[in-house]
Amino acid sequence: MAALDDLAFDPWDPAFVTDPYPAYAELRERGRVRYFEPTNQWLVPHHADVSALLRDRRLGRTYLHRFTHEEFGRTPPPPEHEPFHTLNDHGMLDLEPPDHTRIRRLVSKAFTPRTVERLGPYVHKLARDLVAALVEAGGGDLLTDVAEPLPVAVIAEMLGIPEADRAPLRPWSADICGMYELKPSGDAAARAVRASAEFSDYLRAIIAERRKNPGDDLISGLIAAHDEDDRLTEQEMISTCVLLLNAGHEATVNSTVNGWWALFRHPGQLAALRADHSLVPSAVEELLRYDTPLQLFERWVLDEIEIDGQVIPRGAEIALLFGSANHDPAVFTDPSRLDLARADNPHISFSAGLHYCIGAPLARIELAASMTALLEQAPALRLAAEPKRKPNFVIRGLEGLAVEVG
Ligand code: HEM
Repeated sequence: MAALDDLAFDPWDPAFVTDPYPAYAELRERGRVRYFEPTNQWLVPHHADVSALLRDRRLGRTYLHRFTHEEFGRTPPPPEHEPFHTLNDHGMLDLEPPDHTRIRRLVSKAFTPRTVERLGPYVHKLARDLVAALVEAGGGDLLTDVAEPLPVAVIAEMLGIPEADRAPLRPWSADICGMYELKPSGDAAARAVRASAEFSDYLRAIIAERRKNPGDDLISGLIAAHDEDDRLTEQEMISTCVLLLNAGHEATVNSTVNGWWALFRHPGQLAALRADHSLVPSAVEELLRYDTPLQLFERWVLDEIEIDGQVIPRGAEIALLFGSANHDPAVFTDPSRLDLARADNPHISFSAGLHYCIGAPLARIELAASMTALLEQAPALRLAAEPKRKPNFVIRGLEGLAVEVG
């Protein structure tokens, strides 16, 4: 497809998706905000603006707590998309206060620093076992052998999803996440709708079972939760579980493979990391910045705002370019350089403000665990074949990452 507008920014162009960072640099140079006709959104590429707007209460992830679709000048989604929207719109990520506050408070109890810290030994053991199997096999696909099974097992364990039921979790999540891309196709929407219906039915049954036989898992905890008499409704519980299961692995999987793909392309940095494992924490942060796993998040303008003299009215939609913010030279010295020892790294990959990633501490433990296990147990890990990038722009990942060991 030819470049849209007169910009190199073209989320449907595979060349752009392969390396969007030069197009972001152009966008940043051309101003603080720019209307993008193909998606009817205002693009915001600078770190300072993305960071400020994520905290700005005049914007929201939804408008339905204040306006109907019609009042907001938007057409309601088609009725055949209903299973997706019912599921999506009752998860905290797509709610604003007071519902967001009530649900986030309940879920936060499972993600306190102490609870997450206690999971550390389990996560590290899982990572070591997965890497041991990869080494034993002489190599394999880092995506399916390590990156996927680790966070899927962790979040499924937390929620108490039996091992025998876990196989459909990945495909359900992938199909639902297809709806978060810009202008999803009719096919993608149909897949998301079907996955939403199946995933919801599955969780409805599990919740009913846990009501009868509570355990010490998070689903039982949510059922039992009393919070100043605010319980979760059945739909909120289903939506919360799906959100946790999907958000709990999707970006971690991609961060792991995007990260190793970046390391393989920077042998000097990989050698430095192999020589000094104390770099792991800063390497995790730098890889999250360098190839940002979630490239764009949207916000609705609930009350008129102004950016650099440009008035953006109620009803408009803003696209916050996380990948661009993470490469903004106003904040990061030499932003296109991978520097695993980067000390000052206020990347925005986990967002900011009300919706700041609740799973960030867990994601950090998971990413450090798989990196450490791979460094220690597979010190000669190398690329076996050039990976293919997924065509998705918003959720950035690879189709696979073939590696050899030994
Ligand atoms: C590298 C891994 C991860 C990345 C990059 C990531 C990124 C994000 C981002 C950017 C948001 C906010 C989006 C916005 O502001 O519109 C978010 C929210 C969220 N994330 Fe993560 N995430 C990761 C891992 C996880 C994990 C492991 C979990 C759970 C176990 C999780 C659960 C959530 C939840 C529940 C929300 C919604 C929070 C709210 O709306 O208040 N995430 N994440």
